[in-house]
Amino acid sequence: MSTNTASALSAAASLLRQARRIVCLTGSGVSAESGVATFRNVENGLWARFDPQRLATQEGFAANPGLVWQWYMHRLDAVEQAQPNPGHSALAELEHRLPVFTLVTQNVDDLHERSGSRHVLHLHGRINRFHCNVCGFDHDLRSSERRATAPPRCIACGGAVRPSVVWFGEPLPHRLLDKAWQASERCDLFLVVGTSGLVYPAAQLPLLAQQHGAPIIDINPEVTPLSEQAEIHLAGRSGALLPRLLELLGKET
Ligand code: APR
Repeated sequence: MSTNTASALSAAASLLRQARRIVCLTGSGVSAESGVATFRNVENGLWARFDPQRLATQEGFAANPGLVWQWYMHRLDAVEQAQPNPGHSALAELEHRLPVFTLVTQNVDDLHERSGSRHVLHLHGRINRFHCNVCGFDHDLRSSERRATAPPRCIACGGAVRPSVVWFGEPLPHRLLDKAWQASERCDLFLVVGTSGLVYPAAQLPLLAQQHGAPIIDINPEVTPLSEQAEIHLAGRSGALLPRLLELLGKET
């Protein structure tokens, strides 16, 4: 069902009220209203303006580590200047209110945590964390290193330090993916917010939940492959629709 009418919102709120174990998967759309760029928007998406092969792969980092480093430091600055929006806050409130709520994100920003979400599974890593690309040693950065035109050197092995994000062609952190997978198999409702659902294995999670009998609610101004699969697609911005869902949830309990 694809609509943003009051009846669909109320249907979504009643599914939320009945559910006992919820998984929510977010994508960059949940941070769009905070001014953080999404990836595939044809006008202002990152991949519409930058080449992912040159900036988000091991090969790109090997070919031009300085370019990749500076690009991520630029994105990190944008994330740090951004503020969580009402969509982030509503998800933190849902985590607080609902018995079991697992928040899985593809986002590398920390806006979920800054809005109060506690247990966020970052499947694609975190842009404000760093490790050595060779030995894996974790690094805290001095601000001068962030301003540098080349990645800092690892204090353990001398290798290049990189942001702890998952690049194309790299495996996801398997402990986190296992947790997300198991939660999706066991949940009784799956909420998808602000993702195009084009990147796997993250996009597999709602389908896995559906195969195990859980309905999907999808929140996205556009219709995506996941919207087509969802029991309810709420066509609109998460910063507007999630607080409304919370309101409806609150009102009728
Ligand atoms: N509220 C809800 N959804 C929104 C909003 C909003 N305010 N604004 C945009 N969207 C939707 C878009 O319609 C689009 O479907 O968010 C989605 C963003 O999709 P992508 O740009 O493809 O980003 P995402 O799904 O997060 O990408 C997945 O791809 O590039 C890799 O690792 C990167 O984690 C990323 C992964």
